[in-house]
Amino acid sequence: MKAELIKTTAGGIKVFAIENDNGMRVELLSYGAIISKLLVKDKNGELVDVVAGYDDQDEYKSDACYFGALIGRVGNRIEKGRFRLDGAEYSLAHNDGNNHLHGGVNGFNKKEYNAEIVGASSIKFSRISPNGEEGYPGTMTVAVTYTLLNDDALEILYEATSDKTTICSLTNHSYFNLNGDFESVLEHDVCLKASCLTDVDGELIPHGELLNVKGTPYDFTAPKKVGRDIECDDRLLNVARGYDFNYVLDKGSADDVKAYAHGDKSGILMQVFTDRPCIQFYTGNFLDGVKGKKTYGYQSALCLETQGYPNAINVPSFDSMVLKTGRKYQTKTKYVFSVE
Ligand code: BGC
Repeated sequence: MKAELIKTTAGGIKVFAIENDNGMRVELLSYGAIISKLLVKDKNGELVDVVAGYDDQDEYKSDACYFGALIGRVGNRIEKGRFRLDGAEYSLAHNDGNNHLHGGVNGFNKKEYNAEIVGASSIKFSRISPNGEEGYPGTMTVAVTYTLLNDDALEILYEATSDKTTICSLTNHSYFNLNGDFESVLEHDVCLKASCLTDVDGELIPHGELLNVKGTPYDFTAPKKVGRDIECDDRLLNVARGYDFNYVLDKGSADDVKAYAHGDKSGILMQVFTDRPCIQFYTGNFLDGVKGKKTYGYQSALCLETQGYPNAINVPSFDSMVLKTGRKYQTKTKYVFSVE
C-alpha cells in the first residue's frame, strides 16, 4: 500500500496516487479534489480505468461535466437558486436554466485544495470556503479524505463545519463505465435499493412528491440492464432523456449495499455503500462527445452520486440539509470493486 505525490502540472495541480497491494490504483487531484483515474482489475486481471476524465489534468479547469469532482456546497439543484435561512433570503447563481446546480459557477469542483498524505492509504483535501462564496452564508471548513483499502474499496469521508448556519450536501461526481471503454452503459446491470424516487418537474426540480418505482421503468430494486426500459415513452424519462433521478434509499444500515453496477464486458462489479439517504442515478444524458481520455458520448457513463434530498432547503418534508454552527457534517461513501 502506498500513497504519494506523483507530479505537479504546469497549471500547478498536484497529482497524487494511492495504490493497494492488489495493484488497484486511484489518482487524485488537488484541484476539485478530483478522482482523475481509477484503475481496477477486470475478469482477465487487466487494469481498467473505470472513470471519465482528461489525460491532461489542467483540462479539468475548463471541464463543464464535473468529471470526478467534489461537489459542494450543495449537490444537485436548488429551485431558482433561492432559499431562506434564519430569517434571511439568499440568492445563488442560476447556472442550470432557472436553477442552481452543484454549488454554482465556481463550486467546490473549481477550487484548489490543501492536500495531505495521511498514512499509506489516504489523501486528505481541505480548504476554507469564505463567507458568501457562491452566495452561501458562513465560512465553511471542508475536507474530503480518500482512502484506498486492500479489499479494493475506495472510501470517501466528507467533513464540514461552518461559523454560521448554512446548507451543505457534498458528493463526488465520478462518471463510471465499468467496461472502461466508455462506449455505452446500456448493457450494464444496475441495482438500486430504493423503492421510491423524488418526483421532479420539467426542470428536474423535486417539490416533495415521492414516486413508488415498483413495476415502473424506474424500478431497479432488482438488477436490470440500464437500457431495458430507458427508451420507454414516459414523462420522467422524456424530461431527463434517460435516468437522472434521486432515488430514496430504503432504510437499512450503512453496512448494507445500497446500489451496484456491473460491466457486461469486463465483469467488474461496483458496490456502493453510504450513510446518505439518497443516490442520484444519472446515465450521462448531457454527454455529447466531450473529448478527454476517451470521447464521452450520450449515455457512455453513469453516475451514482450519494447525496441528501435535492432542493431540501425549499421542501420541508425532506430531511434537512442545514448545517448549524457548532455541528459537524460528516458522511461516508464507499465504492467496492470485485469481479463477477
Ligand atoms: C445531474 C445532471 C447534471 C449533471 C451535470 C448530475 O448530477 O443529475 O442533471 O446534468 O450532474 O453533469
